[in-house]
Amino acid sequence: MSARPPIAMLAELTHRCPLSCPYCSNPLELARQETELGTDDWCRVFREAADLGVLQLHLSGGEPATRRDLVDLIVAAREAGLYTNLITSGIGLNERRLHALDEAGLDHIQLSLQGTTPEMADEIGGYKGGFARKMQVAALIKEIGFPLTLNAVLHRRNLHQLPRAIEMAVEMGARRIEVATVQFHGWALKNRDALMPTMEQARDADAIVKDARKSLKGTLVIDYVPADYHSDFPKRCMGGWGTTGLNVAPDGEVLPCHAAQSIPHLQFDNVREKSLNDIWYNGSAFNAYRGTDWMQEPCRSCDMKLKDFGGCRCQAMAVVGDAAATDPVCIKSPHHGALQSQADDFSHNDTADLIYRSAPGKAVPEPAE
Ligand code: FES
Repeated sequence: MSARPPIAMLAELTHRCPLSCPYCSNPLELARQETELGTDDWCRVFREAADLGVLQLHLSGGEPATRRDLVDLIVAAREAGLYTNLITSGIGLNERRLHALDEAGLDHIQLSLQGTTPEMADEIGGYKGGFARKMQVAALIKEIGFPLTLNAVLHRRNLHQLPRAIEMAVEMGARRIEVATVQFHGWALKNRDALMPTMEQARDADAIVKDARKSLKGTLVIDYVPADYHSDFPKRCMGGWGTTGLNVAPDGEVLPCHAAQSIPHLQFDNVREKSLNDIWYNGSAFNAYRGTDWMQEPCRSCDMKLKDFGGCRCQAMAVVGDAAATDPVCIKSPHHGALQSQADDFSHNDTADLIYRSAPGKAVPEPAE
């Protein structure tokens, strides 16, 4: 299968982050600050991405506002002709900085929500005062007029707050909310027992989203990532491996998805050594699961194989130990029954403590100048 150009690129500018979320999807081994790409390298990568055909640039982390050169990076990305979306917790942004980002041409902001009350949000983010700061930033985003998506990350501890999260998105003037049930990759895998939703919560969330989509039609678009351990059909992860998007890690490694480093045999190329074009078309990691040649049964003979591409490679690796296996979420996987009973056990473990990404309880710092 010959590859088409990617549509989107996720630039993980840094793994540094003031929050300590127990569902952090960054890899277990974080890129250290001294290994991060510098401003010039990122600007070159943005130009290479645009030449390759990328249209949308998502700037994330860690917390991208931790980078002092964030405004310069937005300017460079806009000059390259990319649509820019900043994925942020809001910590590290203030009025002056948001105006500078607006002047630089930032197109869109995606604000994460750890909970709808200070108690919940600050506990989950491991960050005192984080919710209050986020609400100030949300008000400024509305005042300046940035198009906004609210990204509500949900799990067993806060799924009951889903209706309020949807209301908050409307109050903030968001055009879109992403209702994202935690996906268990990276650090989040350590917290499956503390965060796994119950089957009942997963069903309730399906119904709440369905109703809200109807009642808020024309007001708010709702993207929904369901609790997939409780599903019978896998998601078409990354739109299909090596088909739609690519990730550049803080140190310049180029990944087919944000969790790809959890697949131990893959070798990743680096933008410090190769062009993005060469990496996308010829890189061994991108070609490992592109198309369908790599598939085993039951995917190989399945009539859904071009729709879901066998689901998520990183989940197959994490649960089955084989990245070429059918995603165990799929009802046809021989591991599906075991996954569902595991999910049930995890979701009833009421004594599990949260394992934070780093020591919780940090206080809100001043934004980078
Ligand atoms: Fe890597 Fe799904 S998260 S393929």
